[in-house]
Amino acid sequence: MGIDKNTKIYVAGHRGMVGSAIIRQLQAKGFDNLVTRTHAELDLTDQKSVAHFFQIEKPQQVYLAAAKVGGIHANNTYPAEFIYQNLMIETNVVHQAFQAGVKRLLFLGSSCIYPKMAPQPMAEDALLTGQLEVTNEPYAIAKIAGIKLCESYNRQYGQSHGIDYRSVMPTNLYGPGDNYHPENSHVIPGLIRRFHEAKEQKLPEVVIWGTGAPMREFLYVDDMAAASVFVMELDKSTYEQHTEPMQSHINVGFGSDVTIKGLAEMIGEVVGYPGVITFDPNKPDGTPKKLMNSDRLKSMGWQATVQLRDGLHMAYKSFLTQVQC
Ligand SMILES: NC(=O)c1ccc[n+]([C@@H]2O[C@H](COP(=O)([O-])OP(=O)(O)OC[C@H]3O[C@@H](n4cnc5c(N)ncnc54)[C@H](OP(=O)(O)O)[C@@H]3O)[C@@H](O)[C@H]2O)c1
Repeated sequence: MGIDKNTKIYVAGHRGMVGSAIIRQLQAKGFDNLVTRTHAELDLTDQKSVAHFFQIEKPQQVYLAAAKVGGIHANNTYPAEFIYQNLMIETNVVHQAFQAGVKRLLFLGSSCIYPKMAPQPMAEDALLTGQLEVTNEPYAIAKIAGIKLCESYNRQYGQSHGIDYRSVMPTNLYGPGDNYHPENSHVIPGLIRRFHEAKEQKLPEVVIWGTGAPMREFLYVDDMAAASVFVMELDKSTYEQHTEPMQSHINVGFGSDVTIKGLAEMIGEVVGYPGVITFDPNKPDGTPKKLMNSDRLKSMGWQATVQLRDGLHMAYKSFLTQVQC
């Protein structure tokens, strides 16, 4: 038995890459009572406004996909903003959701919660077992706090108030709504832009930083949205069977990784770039491998369906409409 399609659902961050994919997914499944607010309408760092919003709207479910996000440069330059805003968004939304009687909430974290030297592939039990990557430590700490907020509310109020707040940790995402900023984007949108521009400008060569050997995992954002709705809808006994009360977060990965070289070649093909791809081994490579262990989610019955090449075709199509209009 599925969840009633008239359930009142608030998607926080609905204009973001993940939030907009969650909206698409919910609409496709027939949910027609969705509540949204733009950042301008509701600043989630403002406790009073968030309390007022929840008391007025009284949603039954919440997807928390609003966050201050950014690449290495932004995280390094604005660490105070990253930790402050994310902690505020999480504490306000989780606490006010609880006050307004929300029974189910899904918090979106990130793979950066795991220690820098976590064994690969990274399983959920690697959390809090070692030092974090220094550059985005403030962001990671805020995300870890978000998981622990959900678990603590469940621990204290789960029985008495019937609440069930869950967390999912996505790997690197890509797809419609991505950030294609020339200097401040993740690897896939950055490469899509570079190959596209090289094609337009008829450049003979695209040079990529590092050796191309590091391995990374990528998940199409609509798969992430499908996983989010799957975890939200999962019955309580199945969820409890596969998690622990204070280790309840769930990794959402694609299940396998690719080399940066393989990825670059694939993007070159998808974009239709006819030139040469070379690598600059004098530039840093970063961590050799970063892959999530998604066995927990798999054993619950969900697996990614969008293959990388198909996802890249859809991402490039959305890039053309997003960036060129
Ligand atoms: N993209 C990835 O590869 C990736 C990977 C792993 C995890 N995640 C997680 O997924 C979640 C969503 O990420 P995303 O990629 O969708 O980010 P995004 O595209 O930047 O979307 C975030 C949304 O949150 C909103 N927001 C930020 N601060 C707010 C505030 N104070 N009040 C109200 N709204 C606010 C933003 O609105 P404005 O733009 O108007 O500020 C934006 O619409 C994050 O928790 C992130 O950690 C993403």
